[in-house]
Amino acid sequence: MAYETINVEVSDYIATITLNRPDALNALNRQLLSEVGQALEEADASDKVRCIILTGSEKAFAAGADITEMADLTYVEVASKDLFGGIARRFAATRKPIIAAVSGYALGGGCELAMMCDFVIASETAKFGQPEINLGVIAGMGGSQRLTHAVGKAKAMDMNLTGRFMDAAEAERSGLVSRVVPAKKLMEEARGAADKIAAKSALATAAAKEAVNRSFEVPLAEGLLFERRLFHALFATEDQSEGMAAFREKREAQFRDR
Ligand code: HXC
Repeated sequence: MAYETINVEVSDYIATITLNRPDALNALNRQLLSEVGQALEEADASDKVRCIILTGSEKAFAAGADITEMADLTYVEVASKDLFGGIARRFAATRKPIIAAVSGYALGGGCELAMMCDFVIASETAKFGQPEINLGVIAGMGGSQRLTHAVGKAKAMDMNLTGRFMDAAEAERSGLVSRVVPAKKLMEEARGAADKIAAKSALATAAAKEAVNRSFEVPLAEGLLFERRLFHALFATEDQSEGMAAFREKREAQFRDR
């Protein structure tokens, strides 16, 4: 499918979705959000994809929702069309793991988009923030919720109330990102992680993703039960037999997603 605001490349079982509105620092307009959703759906359905990377440019992952597009919207338009709700549902519906590779600005909706991914790898230049407060509004796609889960109340309140940015080192210290690497190594690092994921059983990676995500939705006892049931279920797969046999035979496992 041809896209105008993103590029999509598939190689070695990894789909790389690159946000591509350089003149607006990858600001998220409706078209871009719709194209990202479409690309996720296609990648999730494709036999040639086992892991997805979402990235932007060196200067900006995304500088937020497109302010020029938003500026004249009325309450009725924003509320009745739920303009920004759809994209989170499309991320949540994607069964394959999604890695955000973030360089430069990840602000407002950009930070929120990164947090919709399963984990974030950042370059040393990354800057995260929820500066919506400077525009007279607040975060609307998870910046008050996912960020609080990731970094705790103190820093989430600080960022949402003052609009200050968090650099990559602070983001790693605070649990917002899993790794920080030099800018030049960002895509190599993200691909390395995606390669590792792509080599596992897709049944197991989907279950791991589902189990971790469940921890955000339910109380601990329910989450533990959910995890245990998924664990039990994986013993019905050939990949479980293969993975454990390969360990005993001291060889690489050959998973077949069965
Ligand atoms: C539209 C944007 C934009 C945005 C940058 N641009 N961010 N356009 N929406 N969010 C445009 C600028 O207007 C400019 O276009 C070009 O990109 C380059 O930006 P500059 O400001 O010239 O670059 P720089 O001086 O390097 O500053 C970078 C920046 C700044 C610090 C990131 O652009 C900035 O503060 N942007 C806004 C960040 C923000 O407030 N994000 C939250 C948005 S609200 P021209 O044509 O002038 O060259 C949000 C709500 C989400 O995300 C919730 C949804 C439910």
